[in-house]
Amino acid sequence: MSAATGKKAVLELDGKKIELPIYSGTLGPDVIDVKDVLASGHFTFDPGFMATASCESKITFIDGDKGVLLHRGYPIAQLATQASYLETCYLLLSGELPTAEQKSDFENKVRNHTMVHDQVSRFFNGFRRDAHPMAVMCGVVGALSAFYHNGFDVENVDHREITAVRLVAKIPTLAAWTYKYTIGQPFVYPRNDLSYAENFLYMMFATPADRDYKVNPILAKAMDRIFTLHADHEQNASTSTVRLAGSTGANPYACIAAGIAALWGPAHGGANEAVLKMLDDIGTVENVAPFMEKVKTKEVKLMGFGHRVYKNFDPRAKVMKETCDEVLSALGINDPQLALAMELERIALSDPYFIERKLYPNVDFYSGIILKAIGIPTEMFTVIFALARTVGWISHWLEMHSGPYKIGRPRQLYTGETQRDIKR
Ligand code: ACO
Repeated sequence: MSAATGKKAVLELDGKKIELPIYSGTLGPDVIDVKDVLASGHFTFDPGFMATASCESKITFIDGDKGVLLHRGYPIAQLATQASYLETCYLLLSGELPTAEQKSDFENKVRNHTMVHDQVSRFFNGFRRDAHPMAVMCGVVGALSAFYHNGFDVENVDHREITAVRLVAKIPTLAAWTYKYTIGQPFVYPRNDLSYAENFLYMMFATPADRDYKVNPILAKAMDRIFTLHADHEQNASTSTVRLAGSTGANPYACIAAGIAALWGPAHGGANEAVLKMLDDIGTVENVAPFMEKVKTKEVKLMGFGHRVYKNFDPRAKVMKETCDEVLSALGINDPQLALAMELERIALSDPYFIERKLYPNVDFYSGIILKAIGIPTEMFTVIFALARTVGWISHWLEMHSGPYKIGRPRQLYTGETQRDIKR
């Protein structure tokens, strides 16, 4: 629970003073509890929730100015380099890093749930084969709610916990099948002797014709790190969407499908796809300078730059850049798009326009380049993000359902017509 500081903010309205309690968290700015404003007949107004904490949470802390990202207190760079993705999942879901025994138990549980009901495979056939993979993901993840609805009780702790495990386990299978469907290859079933990241890459790239397909361990390590770096990011648009949908008591698989929908947009999860499209459009290093002029005249945005909360640097981008260098040198890739990306980064970091606006590369600037090197097509980038973020979404959903919560129901400043009569 947040601690009351004893301090109060005083709001004066029509000559009357309203005292608003101030609470402290363990880190971050104090918050002013504005609920009592309602009794005065007023709402607060904060489009985009720029200054509004919508909930209390113990999962993730971000200090955007200092470039800090902590999961359950642990810095993201330590988790990305010293823990596996599944250990990070356990941490997000339960609050602690697992012991060796808990780790093996959790990994086994996830392995036991990697298959999806075979009927789910038939949903894919309903989609056009050129459908965007995120459209397919919204559909098939939402469809899981049809398989786990009767008998599901949101008040039951065991039901909630098994839902979290199922989602973490099944989402790579659905993501890989989404890819296979779009390229017309048969679905590859999960292999439980492989690690989480290896299994995902196996389902993506193995075919029945290549029975001995081996996953490159460097790529599996990079994939695992990409998953970890995207695992959670406190109350962003997609997580808030999952909480809002979940606050009505809706089926959790449907809530995750809502999160996937919110993630799809280019201002959120669609950014790494947009980075590669932007690099394609720019074409060559000579075109970078004129492109930057267009950015400054606001004709276009520099994708992969800027962040709503990180206004100095994105701590995930640093680890991602290191991983990017590792993957490219291990694979001996000399990608001209990389040179282009580095030139964009160099100009942007030294140009007053970007410095004044505190625009720095975000995690997606580098993740797109790594995913391309791994052989993942651009349209699948946001799907990878959704796969990795599923644990964050379901951790927030679990946290919300573990204590008292209210249905999310924002108010509005109405500026439409006043009441009028139909005149015919
Ligand atoms: N390129 C050029 N200019 C930019 C960019 C950008 N990528 N981002 C912000 N700006 C400019 C704005 O035009 C504005 O300039 P002004 O003060 O002259 O009007 C100023 O910087 C502040 O921008 P805001 O829009 O207020 O910043 P906000 O916090 O609302 O937006 C956002 C953050 C949406 C991420 C934005 O920076 C953006 O669209 N970036 C590109 C998309 C992207 O990479 N998204 C990934 C986010 S990370 C993630 O989801 C994992």
